Amino acid sequence: MITDDIRTEIRHLLKEKNAVLLAHNYMRDEVQELADITGDSLQLSIEAAKTDAEVIVFCGVHFMAESAAILSPRKTVLLPRADAGCPMADMVDVNGLRNLKQQHPGVPVVTYVNSTAAVKAESDICCTSANAVSVVRSLQQQKLIFAPDRNLGRWAARSVPEKEFVFWDGYCPTHERLNASQVIELKAVHPDALFVCHPECTPDVSVLADHVCSTSGMSPYCAKSPAVKFIIGTEAGILFKLRDENPDKEFILASPGLICPNMKLTALDDILNCLINMQPVVTVPEDVRLKARAALDKMLAVPRD
Ligand code: 13P
Ligand code: SF4
Repeated sequence: MITDDIRTEIRHLLKEKNAVLLAHNYMRDEVQELADITGDSLQLSIEAAKTDAEVIVFCGVHFMAESAAILSPRKTVLLPRADAGCPMADMVDVNGLRNLKQQHPGVPVVTYVNSTAAVKAESDICCTSANAVSVVRSLQQQKLIFAPDRNLGRWAARSVPEKEFVFWDGYCPTHERLNASQVIELKAVHPDALFVCHPECTPDVSVLADHVCSTSGMSPYCAKSPAVKFIIGTEAGILFKLRDENPDKEFILASPGLICPNMKLTALDDILNCLINMQPVVTVPEDVRLKARAALDKMLAVPRD
């Protein structure tokens, strides 16, 4: 089938099945272009819960579809590529987290949404890259465990120095491929450019940034800024939205290594096939779902700074 026919057929099936197509900001351009809603992990999980659609087609990775299933138990959640996982989410498991909790009794666990439902269920509260600082500030306790992203944790810790963090040693392999010398070299070549990066970057990279934010924060920041050139330190898929929403500005990817293989798996064919077969469905066992939901609900109740 040619691409235009695939697009038409996907739109037809979405309507027929009362389905909504969600795409994370790192998805391939053609997937973002076709989606009903694009956004970061926080926005998409909120939209997934709000929608009247009976079916959610989640173009992202497994933990995102799980979050949609946790927040929308009566909807069918489809993940077009069952093999789209997240190596950072897989770096923390329930037993490991339980062991760490035993070493720090009474210390609350803040878990980044880039984690499995089972790990969320072991946590006191979740956070995303957009609200990590607000979530940490909202805790009554002075000490906290932060899992699984050591880089997001260290970035949040810089903004909330009064708190004591115990870091899980996880990281995003895609963001860790960007190093400080690449940024310094690019800044020398483009002295008029601002450097904007994601908090999943290593501390020696994020310290060089003019602005650190989630994927949803990047486009508004670049739009409002008087600068016209930006070096971007996050996964390459974000360039689609940045260029689409800021056509008069220039965006330079900080490293050719900023491509997440999992985020690039989902193609239009996969979306079509999943709508035809209504598979793969992502579900979460009810006991896990209820505990994970409590951690997500606590996060959603935290006012944004
Ligand atoms: P956000 O879109 O929430 O900033 O997340 C980045 C990411 O790595 C998702 O996998
Ligand atoms: Fe996971 Fe990093 Fe890929 Fe996001 S970009 S899905 S955190 S590996």
